[in-house]
Amino acid sequence: MADAMTNPIDFALGQRTRFYEELGAFLRIPSVSAKSEHDGDTERAAEWVREQLVRAGLEAETIATPGHPVVVGEWRGAGAEAPTVLIYGHYDVQPAEPLELWDSPPFEPEVRDGRIYARGSADDKGQLFLHIKALEAHLATRGRLPVNVIVLAEGEEEVGSPNLVPFVKEYRDRLAAQTVVISDSAMFAPGLPSLLFSLRGLAYFEIHATGPASDLHSGAYGGAVLNPANALARVVAGLHDESGRITIPGFYDDVLTPSDETLAGIRGLPFDADEYASEVGTVPTGGEVAFSPLERLWIRPSCDVNGMLSGYTGEGAKTVLPGKAMAKVSFRLVPDQSPERVRKLLEEHLARVTPAGVTMEVVELHGGRPWSARLEGPLFTAATRALERSFGATPVLTGEGGSIPIVVELEEILGASSLLLGFALPGANMHAPNEWFAKDCFEKGIDTLIHLYDELAAL
Ligand code: BES
Ligand code: ZN
Repeated sequence: MADAMTNPIDFALGQRTRFYEELGAFLRIPSVSAKSEHDGDTERAAEWVREQLVRAGLEAETIATPGHPVVVGEWRGAGAEAPTVLIYGHYDVQPAEPLELWDSPPFEPEVRDGRIYARGSADDKGQLFLHIKALEAHLATRGRLPVNVIVLAEGEEEVGSPNLVPFVKEYRDRLAAQTVVISDSAMFAPGLPSLLFSLRGLAYFEIHATGPASDLHSGAYGGAVLNPANALARVVAGLHDESGRITIPGFYDDVLTPSDETLAGIRGLPFDADEYASEVGTVPTGGEVAFSPLERLWIRPSCDVNGMLSGYTGEGAKTVLPGKAMAKVSFRLVPDQSPERVRKLLEEHLARVTPAGVTMEVVELHGGRPWSARLEGPLFTAATRALERSFGATPVLTGEGGSIPIVVELEEILGASSLLLGFALPGANMHAPNEWFAKDCFEKGIDTLIHLYDELAAL
């Protein structure tokens, strides 16, 4: 397959049709990690990634875990003296529901207006695929890379990576790398690429409120028996004050103020409030009034109800006083907050505010620490140049409100530092109906990652 006559960029251009077909096949596998009915599909997606890595010229295997398999690809031709880059991505996707809100079926990719619509197109199959194709382009044309490369693709990112930390610990020697590269995030704007300076962490809980021994007639008992749904709603509403601050005592104690440089950088970004409002369909009035929207998203913590369950929600009216209620509440965290401390503070807070007549129990779903980047070193310089070459624009430094909990763990276990460069566009509908990935970003993304290796070699 080696094509020594062409350079990797021309190779990628020449193979573009095939690349799109392959991405289509990947996106057609409904690898929904949260649903056991899709376990076979998730496994099939892992095997698909393994085959793609082999096709690209790496050695690759899928390794079983107590959950979904991990795929490890390796190319060690640069030799023991050369640095090693570990590329991390995930082949699992979020559930596609509600299906009726999709304009085309989530697992039948469709191109409309220069966008590939499918679940996982942006998060993260499309972006993981870019890396595989950049490796293939180099190995097919030059037969080598300037660094050793490990690809680590997991199938449980969307369910909190429960098995990946033990996996990385077990395989720490084999996964040893100086730098971790991840494309699982977004650019700041069309035509304006970004490198991340931070990701928020996550602390995600269920709060279970229990009152009477069973559901009761809301007339026969309402007014005398405290309704757990009323009590839970009150507690949840009380988690914020009028200025948007989280009211849990001590919650902000370990929130750090970023450097003046970071703050000035955020203020200098071309944030368009009207465009943001039209992207989300409403004005950004959540969070702390004292901060700008980008600050609230990137450098301040947040607290959100993700779902609530109680009582009768079917058609018409049923007069019932439910015996219990549940809320799923997540906190996005910033340095130096930790999920463990947030859990402790939440439990202490609930113990203080829970009224007599109900009990509240906290169940932890998952957590992850916030990450901040070391914005220096050859990889950072190489990535800046690579993005400039393919997008014709200097990347801006941005934060990210979402979380990729494994990043901090990979850095600590492997002693590496991470570079996050994402190619999705704002409004890509990650986790939502009609997720899409722009063809332009797909093509420039592959070119960027091809340039990345050349720039690394040049440094
Ligand atoms: N790709 C996202 C992280 C992300 C979201 C980056 C939005 C940029 C913009 C990732 O797949 C994700 O969704 N992470 C989860 C983590 C959770 C399941 C532990 C998240 O942030 O909710
Ligand atoms: Zn996601």
